[in-house]
Amino acid sequence: MNKSITYSCPSNIALVKYWGKKEGGVQLPANASISWSLSDLRATTTVQVSPKKAASPQLAFLLDGIPKPSFEPKINNFLKRIEPVLPFLGEVDLHISSMNNFPHGAGIASSAAGFGAMAMALVEAEGQLEIGSAAFLQKASFCARLGSGSASRSVYGEPAIWGLTQSYNGSSDEYAVPFTADIHSDLSNWMDAVMIVDAGEKSVSSTEGHALLSEHAYAESRFDQAQKNLNEILSVLQTGEVERFIALVESEALQLHAMMMSSIPYYMLMRPHTISIIQEIWNYRRETSLPICFTLDAGANVHVLFDARYQEDIQNFINTRLLSYCQNGLYLCSATGGKPEKL
Ligand code: PMV
Repeated sequence: MNKSITYSCPSNIALVKYWGKKEGGVQLPANASISWSLSDLRATTTVQVSPKKAASPQLAFLLDGIPKPSFEPKINNFLKRIEPVLPFLGEVDLHISSMNNFPHGAGIASSAAGFGAMAMALVEAEGQLEIGSAAFLQKASFCARLGSGSASRSVYGEPAIWGLTQSYNGSSDEYAVPFTADIHSDLSNWMDAVMIVDAGEKSVSSTEGHALLSEHAYAESRFDQAQKNLNEILSVLQTGEVERFIALVESEALQLHAMMMSSIPYYMLMRPHTISIIQEIWNYRRETSLPICFTLDAGANVHVLFDARYQEDIQNFINTRLLSYCQNGLYLCSATGGKPEKL
């Protein structure tokens, strides 16, 4: 087969965090998580498929047009993991070219968007499922998960739930599902401004961080807490209890970092400016009562989440009180809720 397929896929930010894997499987989450996709922070990936020329399939990978052989072992590992569900991969050579629409070295993980886009293109290349159908998206999510767990959540425009939970019918550890309930208007149009506190490499990768949960003294109570938070956030998204939403989201971010700080060996990814931004947000919320809060992923950068109806006020707040804490004054702003697009 000869095909060239391009997808653009958004990144996502977890509201309830995936942190820790289940034993006895590949890339299965210890607890269920939920995220919003970030419409304006995307990877655009072209996958070219051609019949293999050598005995074993060959891969070439380019990032922003530049060959990146250093990424190939990770992608080859991903391809091996998904070959059982996409057997044509054993018969083809792949040329994969990916770009992000946000600057490199911004310290923003691009793996969720990148593996999401790659998975969509590969499932389409197989040609077995109707493009964009529920079965297609589920298979793409299944494959994306085997590249990076959080990538499983990037294939939907709705909030995405990944991980088996009694709180949501049809949920699974193997793929994410869209949360299709009606979201209250006070929580359906939020934005994310990512304050770049530290653009450098993380001192401890997510892969290493997840692994430290297997011997973690607080792991079981964290997984219980995540389950409770997920259950509650699903209800809050529908009832529009914004104060409760904020409390859950901020608590999740701090719990994630508390788990890092109480791992053995312990470590810390927050930086002094991370804390300063959090304190500024708390002060500003006390002063104005506006719907704004923070979350964190596994790094020092702060995601400022806010209701888009207050964008002007919050933009002003960011400019006057947060930018001085950002490396080179850099931040990235995105709407939430975009879905992948076939180009
Ligand atoms: O998908 P990974 O292995 O990079 O892990 C992501 C973990 C967090 O970003 C910290 C939380 C999450 O649920 O996205």
